[in-house]
Amino acid sequence: MDKLLVTGPSHLKGQVVVSCAKNATLPILAASLLFDQEIHLKDVPKLNDVHTILKLLQSMGVTSQEKGDILSLNASSVPNLVADYALVKTMRASVLVLGPLLARFGKAKVSLPGGCAIGARPVDIHLTNLEKMGAKIEIDKGYILASCERLKGASLTLSFPSVGATENLMMAAVFAEGLTVIENAAREPEITDLAQFLRSMGVELKGEGTSRIEIQGVERNFRFHQKSPYRPIGDRIEAATYIIAGLMTQSEVEVQGFAPWTLEAVLETLEKMGARFKRLENGVIVFPAAKLKGVVIETAPFPGFPTDVQAQMMALMCICDGQSIITEQIFENRFMHVPELIRMGCKITLKGNAALIEGTPSLSAAPVMCTDLRASAALVLAALKAEGTSDIQRIYHLDRGYENLELKLQKLGAKIERVRG
Ligand code: UD1
Repeated sequence: MDKLLVTGPSHLKGQVVVSCAKNATLPILAASLLFDQEIHLKDVPKLNDVHTILKLLQSMGVTSQEKGDILSLNASSVPNLVADYALVKTMRASVLVLGPLLARFGKAKVSLPGGCAIGARPVDIHLTNLEKMGAKIEIDKGYILASCERLKGASLTLSFPSVGATENLMMAAVFAEGLTVIENAAREPEITDLAQFLRSMGVELKGEGTSRIEIQGVERNFRFHQKSPYRPIGDRIEAATYIIAGLMTQSEVEVQGFAPWTLEAVLETLEKMGARFKRLENGVIVFPAAKLKGVVIETAPFPGFPTDVQAQMMALMCICDGQSIITEQIFENRFMHVPELIRMGCKITLKGNAALIEGTPSLSAAPVMCTDLRASAALVLAALKAEGTSDIQRIYHLDRGYENLELKLQKLGAKIERVRG
């Protein structure tokens, strides 16, 4: 198993360009199942999660080809409408194939994702709303068995603005009869990106980025047409990670390749703590700040503070002046980075879904273990600040969602190396 050796304290300088967003790319890849002609995507990030969904699509019959920075996918023939447990269990986003398969072929068998490290994560909102669109759904031996004649457009109100459910329902609605309205839809920028991709293919929809999305369904034999390759948005979570790296090491860093509005809740929180930025059209410059001060935050659906930046933010809070409090409102078990951060000298107390963080001036290197994707990023951030060499193990979690993390940090001047094993 590969590991990272990070020697701190680091000083960073220069520019880092984020990759296209994992969480925008995965639903767009799943959406390829809707189309019987080839689609082309530009700059798809080389991540393990992307590899997993491509493997899943290939197992169904989708062919893919990469030429330079263009990935082409052809779902003209999809003989196998099954998403197998072996692949779904490794990545929950695999459940996103359910909506498109059901819409286009009237049938799908998709393994239930099961629990994951950060919580139970059920898919009830996906399923009850597909039922409202006329799908027949049964659970058998760990699989969702879904079938329908043709889905019917419906007025749906989500009990929670689930990102995945909104995406699944948007894709399902493409071939539904009539209009589908999704109320209390998720408003994340990745939803907006999926909508823009679908629109670029010729799907009629509106309202993305608001809590009411309308999708006009078409007949299954509708001929879609893509005019030019689609490039997913830049990764706001990766951007937040490098912004926090700059702040933790009191460095000037330019983070390029993402739209600052997609990260406003994070930027505003950091400003409240005393950070200074220059917002650019497609990035930000982070200026070295003296001591930042603690802050109270709670995670929330967009436009609130993203749960995917909670762990990285905690690493920063650990070295701020005074106390901070984080209340995690999205996932019930997303504090697994806490015991590892404590091993590096962080002072954190957990109480239910809240963490109390007492700032400390210095951290010390330690052997630590990654537990999930963003928790791993928090450990790398803490290691950049800590005195000595930290040995960060189980980085396969990081490889799920950060493209070339160590190369990008090395270019900024960090002492970080991957040891293959
Ligand atoms: C997506 C992101 C993930 C991010 C999360 C919240 C992708 C691939 N993943 O995950 O990185 O952390 O949004 O921003 O885009 N829930 C239910 N029933 C459902 C669906 C969700 O109870 O049917 C609950 C979940 O257990 C969780 C909360 O709703 O507690 C949020 O889940 P959701 O928004 O669906 O997140 P994902 O789409 O899984």
